[in-house]
Amino acid sequence: MTQRVAVYAGSFDPIHNGHLDLIMRSRTMFDRVHIAVLHNEEKQPLFTVDERIEMIQGVVADYPDCEVNGFSGLLVDFVRNVGGHAIVRGLRALTDFEFEFQMALMNRRLNPSVETVFMMPKDDLTYVSSRLIKEVCSLGGDLKGLMPVPIYERLIERIGEKLEA
Ligand code: PNS
Repeated sequence: MTQRVAVYAGSFDPIHNGHLDLIMRSRTMFDRVHIAVLHNEEKQPLFTVDERIEMIQGVVADYPDCEVNGFSGLLVDFVRNVGGHAIVRGLRALTDFEFEFQMALMNRRLNPSVETVFMMPKDDLTYVSSRLIKEVCSLGGDLKGLMPVPIYERLIERIGEKLEA
């Protein structure tokens, strides 16, 4: 039987519980979930792609249906290379919609056989983003419950290093 394969792509700098919630929802709909970390140095990430891959691998270690890889180039090409059928994207608020809508339609134009599936994270995670998490962490705010503890510890460590540099 053909396996249903999803690709959940993003920057994941760093992964947080909103991402994890989407991964868990994807696992209920697809046989395999590829988590694809974009190589994009323009965004000046806090963690390297290799670090982000390793961090996500730690978080999904108990789920053999999940695989984590880096990618560059077009997302639809990555999806084709892993035999994927769908791109999963999270929608947190109306503000996400316009950009996500444009991306979904452009990806459809690039490869009409790949469908984009939008999912909403658990309602108490809808305001969580990696950008806000980094900002709150650098200002000493409480992030309990918003990210896995090992990721939080890495974040504290990296932000500390940055502040000392
Ligand atoms: O977590 P992000 O930064 O919102 O993820 C954006 C991502 C990685 C999904 C998007 O930038 C992407 O797909 N980049 C790959 C290049 C590409 O395919 N561009 C055309 C998209 S229509």
